Parts: sequence; C-alpha cells; structure tokens
Amino acid sequence: MNRIFSGVQPTGNLHLGNYLGAIRNWVKLQDDYECIFCVVDMHAITVWQDPQQLIANTREVAAAMIASGVDPKKNIIFNQSMVPGHAELAWIFNCVARLGWLNRMTQFKEKAGSNREKASVGLYSYPNLMAADIMLYKATHVPVGEDQKQHLELTRDVAQKFNNDFKNDFFPIVEPLIFGEATRVMSLRDGSKKMSKSDPSAASRIVMTDGPDEIAKKIRKAKTDAHPIPENKEGLDGRPDAANLMGIFAALSDRNVDSICGEYGGSQFSTFKQALSDLAVEKLGPIGSEMQRLMADSSSIDAVLHDGAEQARAISEPILNDIKDIVGFLRP
Ligand code: TYM
Repeated sequence: MNRIFSGVQPTGNLHLGNYLGAIRNWVKLQDDYECIFCVVDMHAITVWQDPQQLIANTREVAAAMIASGVDPKKNIIFNQSMVPGHAELAWIFNCVARLGWLNRMTQFKEKAGSNREKASVGLYSYPNLMAADIMLYKATHVPVGEDQKQHLELTRDVAQKFNNDFKNDFFPIVEPLIFGEATRVMSLRDGSKKMSKSDPSAASRIVMTDGPDEIAKKIRKAKTDAHPIPENKEGLDGRPDAANLMGIFAALSDRNVDSICGEYGGSQFSTFKQALSDLAVEKLGPIGSEMQRLMADSSSIDAVLHDGAEQARAISEPILNDIKDIVGFLRP
C-alpha cells in the first residue's frame, strides 16, 4: 500500500499557508492512503524554542490537524521526539548525504542569513532529519507546500545513494504531492514573500486561531494594486498581490483561479475583499474554534499523540532493524 508521511513544525503562528498548502490536502488524501502525520518538534529546536511554549505549540499543531478534519482514528498523529528512530536514522543519513548537497539548500541559506557561523549544526543538517522522517516508514508519497520541494529532492538523493552504496533497493524513491490552487501562499503585506510563521508583521498572515474580526481586518488591509480584477488568470501575470488573494479565494472555495476571475473580473478589490473575508471566516472560523476547544483539554490531545507514537514505533522498528543490519550494526 502507498504510505504518506508529512509533518509540520510546532514553531507557533500556524497560518493559512500551512492549512492550504498542507493540512487541508491531507484531509483529502486520508481515505486513499495509509497516513502518518507528525508534529516535528525535533526540527523546531534547530532554532531556539522556549520549552513551555514548545509543548503548547506541539499540542496546537495536533489540534489544528484534528480540527481541520484529519481523523486520529484513521491516521497516525504523533510528535517526532516520541519515536527515537527518527534521530537514529538521521545520524545514518548524516553519513550518507554529502556536504555539497546540504550547501545547496536554499532554506538553510534563508534561515541562517548572513550569520551562518552562528547557525546551529541542526539547522544545517535539518534536511537529513526530514529524509529520515520519511524513510523511517518507507513512505512513498509526501504532501507538502511548494517550499519543501528541494528538501524532498534531497530525500530522494539520500535514499538513492543509500541503495547504491549498499547495493540494494531498500528505500522507495518518494514522490512529492504538491497540489491545489495555493501551493505557495504569499504574505498579505508583500506578494513577493512567502507567508511565514516568522514574519515580524502579524498582518502578513492569517493564523488558524484568528477570529472573524481579525480575519476581516487582515484581508481588508491586504496589499493589492490599482487595477481592477482581470477577466482571466493570464491577467494576473506580474501582479503578485492580486494573484495571491485570488489563489487563496480559489483554494478556500475549491474552485480554480480562472473561475474566480470569471466571477469577479472587472470588479474593484473592495468588493472582492468583502467576499474573500466572508469566505475565509466561513471556512476557517469553525476550525479555529474547534482548535480552541481541543486545546482546552490537553490530556485528550496528549492521548492522541501517545497512541500515534505507539503505532509509529510499531511500523518503524522492523524497518530500522533492517537498516541496521544493512549498515552492519550488531544489534542486541
Ligand atoms: P513547515 O512547518 O514550515 O510547514 C508545514 C507545511 O506547510 C507548508 N507551507 C506552505 N504552503 C503553502 N504556502 C505557504 N506559505 C506555506 N508555508 C508552509 C509547507 O510546505 C509544509 O508542507 N520541513 C517541514 C516539516 C517536515 C516535513 C517532514 C514535511 C519535517 N519532516 C517530512 C514533510 C515530510 C517544514 O518545515 O514545514
């Protein structure tokens, strides 16, 4: 059976991009695949996290998955640090991946910025841990937003090199699943920048727990341009802010951008923004309040994570044992 693995970092400010680029797509896939969804707390600590906040954020991501419709009875939901195999396989992959491959990772360059010498070693080897997450379960498909594409190419390279080095075809070569009208949601303040958890401007993103007033305010203030809405998708070329809002509308309404242009073409943005705001409140409002309800009962979220971790260990332990045998580690 085809198996899905995907993850979200518990670094706070879970936003519309995480929802439309990833979590919402998971809901659509859960009937056709065996799915493993992970709150990647070990990835989160590659940059400083306050320990108490990390715990709260871990529960928040789990709540977001469940509130969005990922069914914890049908899927495995757990946090990464509960399954030690992730760290063990990451070490093996640290010895398979080449420095040159990691040097090309654009996310490291962006996150480390000009202060590369001060970045943690974990931030640098982050993609190897991500490859380990996926390969620990021999997952075949990974649904993510556009920004994770390069990391998945590295995962394929690591798996391929491991197979070549040890002369076998142990690891599957994973396929990214990047789909929908919002694979790269941009900042509401600057259509050339990705919507991100770490943007200093809170107005740049809609977070999943925003109430109706906050959603409406952020959309009203979202950057647009002076032209009316075009009649078709091609008319959005060179208009990143407009294209972003149209893409968000299309994704939230499960339609394509052309059909949204067909409906709103020629209108002013004020009219369109009102409609987008109503739609966003209708779709995100119930998810935000369900997240709040779930987070108020942390013991039931913890129960889901414990149960998920147990299932994740049961799948991964025999795979990790096989890997250790291939590498030549004596086992107890
Ligand atoms: P993270 O936590 O940054 O993001 C979680 C998911 O949300 C997607 N995403 C977006 N999609 C559209 N528009 C955006 N502006 C946007 N921002 C984020 C991401 O593509 C991702 O799918 N390295 C990963 C976590 C990870 C992982 C894995 C993913 C660790 N191990 C194994 C898949 C498989 C990350 O930092 O995601």
